[in-house]
Amino acid sequence: MEHAVFLFLVWLNTAAITTLCAGGGQTRFSYSGFAGANLTVDGNATVTPDGLLVLTSSKTNLQGHAFYHTPLQLSTSPGGKVASFAAAFVFAIVSDYTDFSAHGMAFVVAPNKGFPGALPAGYLALLNVQNNGNASNHLLAVELDTTQNTDFKDINANHVGIDINDLHSVQSSPAGYYDGGGVLRNLTLFSREAMQVWVEYDGDAGRIDVTLAPIRVGNNKPARPLVSAICNLSTVLKEQSYVGFSSATGGINSRHYVLGWSFAMNGPAPAIDIARLPKLPPFGPKPRSKVLAIVLPIATAAAIVAVGSLATLLVLRKLRYAEVLEEWELEFGPHRFSFKDLYHATSGFKSKHLLGAGGFGQVYKGVLGSSKSVCTEVAVKRISHESRQGMKEFIAEVVSIGRLRHRNLAQLLGYCRRKGELLLVYEYMPNGSLDKYLYYREEENKPVLDWAQRFHIIKGVASALLYIHDKWEKVVIHRDVKASNVLLDSEMNGRLGDFGLARLYDHGTDPQTTHIVGTMGYLAPELIRTGRASKLTDVFAFGAFLLEITCGRRPVSIDDDAAQEMLVDWVLEHLREEGSLAHTVDVSLRGQYDVDEVFLVLKLGLLCSHPYTNIRPDMQQVMQYLDGSTPLPDLQPTDMTFSAMALMQNEGFDSYAMSIQSSAGTGSMATAVSAGSIGTISFISGGR
Ligand SMILES: Nc1ncnc2c1ncn2[C@@H]1O[C@H](COP(=O)(O)OP(=O)(O)O)[C@@H](O)[C@H]1O
Ligand SMILES: *[C@@H]1O[C@H](CO)[C@@H](O)[C@H](O)[C@H]1NC(C)=O
Ligand SMILES: *[C@@H]1O[C@H](CO)[C@@H](O)[C@H](O)[C@H]1NC(C)=O
Ligand SMILES: *[C@@H]1O[C@H](CO)[C@@H](O)[C@H](O)[C@H]1NC(C)=O
Ligand SMILES: *[C@@H]1O[C@H](CO)[C@@H](O)[C@H](O)[C@H]1NC(C)=O
Ligand SMILES: *[C@@H]1O[C@H](CO)[C@@H](O)[C@H](O)[C@H]1NC(C)=O
Repeated sequence: MEHAVFLFLVWLNTAAITTLCAGGGQTRFSYSGFAGANLTVDGNATVTPDGLLVLTSSKTNLQGHAFYHTPLQLSTSPGGKVASFAAAFVFAIVSDYTDFSAHGMAFVVAPNKGFPGALPAGYLALLNVQNNGNASNHLLAVELDTTQNTDFKDINANHVGIDINDLHSVQSSPAGYYDGGGVLRNLTLFSREAMQVWVEYDGDAGRIDVTLAPIRVGNNKPARPLVSAICNLSTVLKEQSYVGFSSATGGINSRHYVLGWSFAMNGPAPAIDIARLPKLPPFGPKPRSKVLAIVLPIATAAAIVAVGSLATLLVLRKLRYAEVLEEWELEFGPHRFSFKDLYHATSGFKSKHLLGAGGFGQVYKGVLGSSKSVCTEVAVKRISHESRQGMKEFIAEVVSIGRLRHRNLAQLLGYCRRKGELLLVYEYMPNGSLDKYLYYREEENKPVLDWAQRFHIIKGVASALLYIHDKWEKVVIHRDVKASNVLLDSEMNGRLGDFGLARLYDHGTDPQTTHIVGTMGYLAPELIRTGRASKLTDVFAFGAFLLEITCGRRPVSIDDDAAQEMLVDWVLEHLREEGSLAHTVDVSLRGQYDVDEVFLVLKLGLLCSHPYTNIRPDMQQVMQYLDGSTPLPDLQPTDMTFSAMALMQNEGFDSYAMSIQSSAGTGSMATAVSAGSIGTISFISGGR
C-alpha cells in the first residue's frame, strides 16, 4: 500500500512528458525534476530521491555527466543540415563560499554519452589538453562558468559562453539578463538562486541564442538573448547526437544542480513547470566567504578567548573587590570606603606600599582620589578578622572614634569590610612611627630625636590621652599606648594612633574567659588580673612610654641570659642609687638635654607605671606635672619595690596560659621581644 502511494507520488513529481516521434527525429520532452527519469549519469552525477539532478556534490575535482537516454536525429544525413532545436533548463550552483565557486557546468550536444579522458576544473569535464579545439570533438557546449580561466581567454569568473569544440568560447557574456526595458541585469551564477537557461539553434539562420533569467522573475524567456553566435552547426555536430549536461569542480567545494529540463526539435522548448521543481537542499546557516572561512575560525577563537577572559576578569574583579556590607552599616555610609578605591589607592596592596606590620596586620600607604589636586594620602590597615560577632559594635565604635578630633590624634577616616577582613583608613603620617626613631634608626635612616623633640612628642601624646579620657563626649580608652602607636606628622608632632583597636579582640570571645589585649610591658597588673581596661591602665602604659622615649629602651628587654628585665625596675634601681638616674637616659642624646625635664619625665614615668592604681595620676595631673604648673610629688623608691612583674608572680599569674599575637604569628614571648617587635599578648584566664 505504502509502496503504491510512493510510486504515484514519483509519477506526479516527475511529470515527464516524453514524446518520441521515431519517424522524423522529432524529440520533445520536459522534466520538472528527474525522479524516475531515464537519464544516463556518470561520474559524480546522481539523481536524488526527490528528483534533483546533482551533477557534482560538494567535493573538489569532481566530474559529473547526465544525458538523455536516446540520441537525437539532428540531420537526415552525415554533414547534412542540422535542424532547429531548443532546450530550456533550470539550474543552481551552490558554493561553500559566498565569493568563490569552481568551476562550472555546461549544456552539451555531443556525439557520445560521456567524455572519456576529460579533465575536471577548467575543462568542465568536457575536454582535455590534447583534444581541446579539435574539430573531431563534434561538440557544442553552453558553459556557465564561475571561474576565469585565462587559458581559454575567459572574460570573467561569472560568464555564459558558447563553445564549439573548444573551451575558448566563440561568444560569451557576463551572466545577466535583459529585462522588459532592455536593461542588462547582472546575475551571479553561483548565487544559489535557481535560474533558467534557454539554448536555441535556428537551423535556417545558423544562429545560436542563449538566454538566462532567474526563475523568480517568472517563466517567460526575456526577449533579448544574452549571448548569440552565428555558427552553422551542420559542420560541427554529428547527425546523431546526445544532449545533456556536464559539470566539474576544482579546488573549491561547489554543487551543481539541474532542477528541470525540456527539449524540442523544430520548435520552442516546452515550458518547465516551475511550481513542481524539486526543492534545493537547505544550505545550512549562511554561505561562508572563503576569506571568512579562514578569518572566521580565528576571529571566533579570538572572540571566545576575549569573552572568556572578559568573563574571568569580571569574576576576578568581582572577587577582587568583593566586600561585606550589611544593612546596619548603611547608617555609617560616609565612613564606609569601597574596597575598589582602597585597592586602587594602594596599587593593589603592593609590597612597595607597605609601611609596616604590627600586631594587628599590615599597614599600606595609599593615595585616594584620582585627580592630583584633591588626592589624600592615607594609611590603610588590613586586619584579618574572622569573627562576625561584635562587628557591629566594633564598627559603631570605629565610626564614633572617627568623630574624635584632636591635633595629636592620627585621624581615623573610615573603614571597609570584606570577608574575614577589616580595613581601617587613617590619615597618613609622613614621618612614620616613633619606635622607628628609637630602635631602627640605622635601618630606617632616621635622625636622632633631640630632647626638645622628645619632650614635645610626650606633651602631645599626653594631651591626646587627656582628650580621649576626659575631654570628649564619652570616655575612650586607648588600650594600646606605646611608641609604635605614636606617629609623627610632618611637623614632628606626636600623634596617637590605633586607638580602640584592641576592642576588636575583646568582642566575640568566650565570656568565660578574660581576653586581654595590649602589649607586654605596657600592661598594668590589675589589667592582667581583671581583664578590665580603664583610664588608669592607659596611664600605666603611658608611664612605660615615658620611660621608653627617655631611655631609648623597650619596656621589657632581654639580657644576655634571656632573662626579662623590666625597664621600670631598671630605672627604679638607678633612682635608688643616688645620682645615677642620669645613666638611664638614652645615650644617643649624648648628654644634651634639660636635666630637670628628663628627671621629671623619668619620675613621672615611674609614677604612672606604679603597680598601685591609687598612686597613679590621671591625665589631667600628668599634664600639670609636664607643664610644671604642679610639682611632682616626691617619689619614694621604697614605695615601688613591687614591680609589675613581681606583682604578677606574687599573685600567681605565672600559671596562666600566655599566647602571643605578633606580626610573625604565634611564638614564644622571648622571640617576639628579641625580634624587636613586641607582640600583642593575650592572657587567657580559665573562666573564673
Ligand atoms: N597613619 C599612619 N601613617 C603612616 N604610617 C603608619 C600609619 N599607621 C601605621 N603606620 C606604620 O605602620 C606600622 C605598623 O602599624 P601598626 O600595625 O599600628 O603597628 P603596631 O601594631 O605595632 O601598633 C607602624 O610602625 C608605622 O610605621
Ligand atoms: C560524489 O562524490 C562524493 C564525494 O567524493 C561522494 O560522496 C558521492 O558518493 C559521489 N557520488 C556519486 C554518485 O559518485
Ligand atoms: C532507458 O534508456 C535505455 C537506453 O535507451 C533503454 O535501454 C532502457 O530500456 C530505458 N529504461 C527505461 C526504464 O525506460
Ligand atoms: C584531432 O583528433 C583526431 C582524433 O583523435 C586526431 O587524429 C588528430 O590528430 C587531432 N588533431 C589535432 C590537431 O590534434
Ligand atoms: C554588471 O556586471 C558588469 C560586468 O561584470 C559590470 O561592469 C557592471 O558594473 C555590473 N553592473 C551592476 C549594476 O552591478
Ligand atoms: C549550413 O551548412 C549546410 C551544409 O553544409 C548547408 O546546407 C546550409 O545551407 C548551411 N546553412 C547556412 C545558414 O549557411
